[in-house]
Amino acid sequence: MAILKIARMGHPVLAQIAKPVADPTHPEIRRLVNDMVETMIDANGAGLAAPQVHIPLRLVIFQAPGERTDPELEAAEQYDHTAPLTCLINPQIEILDPQTEGGWEGCLSVPGLRGWVERPAHIRYRGVGVDGKAIERIARGFHARVVQHEVDHLDGRLYPGRMSDLSKLIFESEIRHVAKPETTR
Ligand code: NI
Repeated sequence: MAILKIARMGHPVLAQIAKPVADPTHPEIRRLVNDMVETMIDANGAGLAAPQVHIPLRLVIFQAPGERTDPELEAAEQYDHTAPLTCLINPQIEILDPQTEGGWEGCLSVPGLRGWVERPAHIRYRGVGVDGKAIERIARGFHARVVQHEVDHLDGRLYPGRMSDLSKLIFESEIRHVAKPETTR
């Protein structure tokens, strides 16, 4: 296992369209995923896309832990808001409801900043895991947000390009002025 170098905004690898993974079960893919997990945990991120570690392949990892969800939600709905640590290869997103929701986002490739981004709040995603098995899930809330953010990386998009109001692009150190700590990351 190794901690990989993270590409920062401006590096061309972040602006290109990543290529599909031909064989998701290849041992080199598993090694890459293990290294990406170690890198994401070390950097305290919620997700990481392969282009962020200079590998232009359609592969992302993410997690949506339960502590980010609203405790008032029904159990079934709570389920859609959370995801274990997941590796998703060759992902596809289907928007189930075009209604958007705003949230503060950060990105390991845009260190030190946070931005307010509107995204559809209810999606379905599909892909393949490192075991070659199909993954299909419904996602809402932070879970839907992190998946869309990571998949954007595969199409050369960073979250500032999704922002409609750049006055809401701020330094992480100033987030306390505009948001409660638990709503960020
Ligand atoms: Ni990112």
